[in-house]
Amino acid sequence: MTEPASSPAEPMMLAAEWLPEGPNGSLMTLSTLDDGAPDARTVVLSLIDTEGFHFHTDAASRKVAHIAADPRVALTILLAEQSRQIVVQGTAARVTSDEAAQAYADRSPYLKQLAWLNTHAFAALPEDERQDRWAAFAAEHGDDLAPAPGWIGFRVTPTRVSFWSGAPDTASRRLEYRRGPGGWETSLRAG
Ligand SMILES: Cc1cc2nc3c(=O)[nH]c(=O)nc-3n(C[C@H](O)[C@H](O)[C@H](O)COP(=O)(O)O)c2cc1C
Repeated sequence: MTEPASSPAEPMMLAAEWLPEGPNGSLMTLSTLDDGAPDARTVVLSLIDTEGFHFHTDAASRKVAHIAADPRVALTILLAEQSRQIVVQGTAARVTSDEAAQAYADRSPYLKQLAWLNTHAFAALPEDERQDRWAAFAAEHGDDLAPAPGWIGFRVTPTRVSFWSGAPDTASRRLEYRRGPGGWETSLRAG
């Protein structure tokens, strides 16, 4: 556990220490508000920067409609092997199309193609047709794909970030950062 006295002043600095980088980066649960009711799903944590946590998705998806109506979200990032968890409360806002294009370029060939074909109409097709169309699309385009039309990115700017760590020989605890009027404030909380 990072001791509060020696912990970074900014939560994104500690997040950068905790999170693996690159294409095998982390998954996170993104929670949104559906007219006041909670909803949640897994997304890839595409990258982090000094301002927040980024994810990418389809502009036509339910989560994007939720965020348009209420940008408040939560993120839950489980780092099971390290016995750690990061929980974020914040607000989501669109990133530039240049950044979204870069994130698309970094995705695997499978995920690039998925972004093109992942529609409700495709989901409703019989399985053999889904496979045929998937193979035909791959044969036609290969890995040379521009970002899918609906591909967009969001940055979640945190207002609160909790860093939970477990230990076999003592109680788990959280180091919590809260954005206050004078900057980030930290406190220790029970795990
Ligand atoms: C391991 C895993 C990773 C996923 N990554 C993403 C992602 O990065 N972006 C995304 O839009 N959906 C991703 N999904 C699919 C979402 O969980 C979800 O089913 C989809 O985005 C539709 O969500 P919505 O209807 O709530 O908008 C992923 C699912 C799994 C299981």
